[in-house]
Amino acid sequence: MEKQIVKQRGSIYCNGSAWASLQTAIDTLKPTKIFVLVDANTQEHCFPSFLRLSGTSTLLETITIAAGEVNKTIETCTHLWNVLAKKGADRNSLLINLGGGVVTDLGGFVASTFKRGIEFINIPTSLLAMVDASIGGKNGVDLGVLKNQIGVINNPLLVVIDTCFLKTLPEEEVTSGYAEILKHGLIDSETYWNLVQGFDVNNIQSTENIIWESIKIKNSIVTKDPNELGIRKLLNYGHTLGHAIESFCLEQKDRATLLHGEAIAIGMILTTFISSELLNFDNNKQAAITQLILNHFKKRSFSTLEIDAIIGLLQFDKKNRGGEVLFVLLEDFGVFKINQKVSNDLIHKAFLHYQNS
Ligand SMILES: NC(=O)c1ccc[n+]([C@@H]2O[C@H](COP(=O)([O-])OP(=O)(O)OC[C@H]3O[C@@H](n4cnc5c(N)ncnc54)[C@H](O)[C@@H]3O)[C@@H](O)[C@H]2O)c1
Repeated sequence: MEKQIVKQRGSIYCNGSAWASLQTAIDTLKPTKIFVLVDANTQEHCFPSFLRLSGTSTLLETITIAAGEVNKTIETCTHLWNVLAKKGADRNSLLINLGGGVVTDLGGFVASTFKRGIEFINIPTSLLAMVDASIGGKNGVDLGVLKNQIGVINNPLLVVIDTCFLKTLPEEEVTSGYAEILKHGLIDSETYWNLVQGFDVNNIQSTENIIWESIKIKNSIVTKDPNELGIRKLLNYGHTLGHAIESFCLEQKDRATLLHGEAIAIGMILTTFISSELLNFDNNKQAAITQLILNHFKKRSFSTLEIDAIIGLLQFDKKNRGGEVLFVLLEDFGVFKINQKVSNDLIHKAFLHYQNS
């Protein structure tokens, strides 16, 4: 079965015809120049395969940035805008983002703003970018440690998914991406949640199927609500607290930074507990979700003062309205309520539940 979603912009092709679709897009666009944005790791591990698989004869220029979330900044963008200008990029140039979510978020933003916007294509190489970051058109950078504060919603011309890139992805990065797949289970259905419990990256066929299911879930939500006025907020399940935890850890010099998925995994445990308290999400299901997530993600500890600092960071969440912190909560798998207020006491209680689980 062909795994493809064809749209006017932002078509997604997975394995099968994916590389042929890339070639067709390039032939149609006839870009004056093609730039390929990579980070140091994807340059080493993914760029040689990209050259072989894309088979493009158009001259390519690579632009390499250092790897990691700390580089998802406006300073890196300034550097990239300068590099593009110096290398003679014009409005008919094409930027191909070959990397994880940092490269697709950052490259999408740079392309969307350079000379008021040039075309870009996402070729995600991490699990997280395949199932989430490269899809849906959100591009942007962090502001200091605050996540994704600056950005635009603008779909790539297309997204090319080739799961062969996962062969070189470090194990902890696979686990990080798995967090977003688990989120898709929680927000979609108990059936999908049960299916993804068997996720094993070494099982190529099942991995490809799960990645495609997750892409379809995300795509169906963003298609209904591209500008996040309502249902798209569901994709932020666990992210309100997850982003605050991620920002908090980025800012603490004496703490290990958490990978995006690790922070989201904690955020999902906390938010599902809060969902049980406020919306009667079934307690047994909630306990099973907590255990499953803890089976995959190392437990971290947070002191009362640190939890207060994390609560302080919630004020920067992009879903807030008029200074109010608003959560997405679940009544059951796939049954949700947006714009829910949660007291600080309940957040502390949720952390206690997490530490004691
Ligand atoms: N735009 C969105 O809708 C959206 C959604 C979810 C997450 N995100 C963002 O995505 C980012 C996280 O993405 P990520 O986890 O991919 O991070 P990442 O881009 O930092 O990639 C993780 C690590 O894996 C390396 N890597 C990537 N592919 C590889 C491969 N095939 N082989 C070897 N190494 C490889 C990278 O160099 C990096 O060191 C965060 O900034 C998050 O905010 C965006």
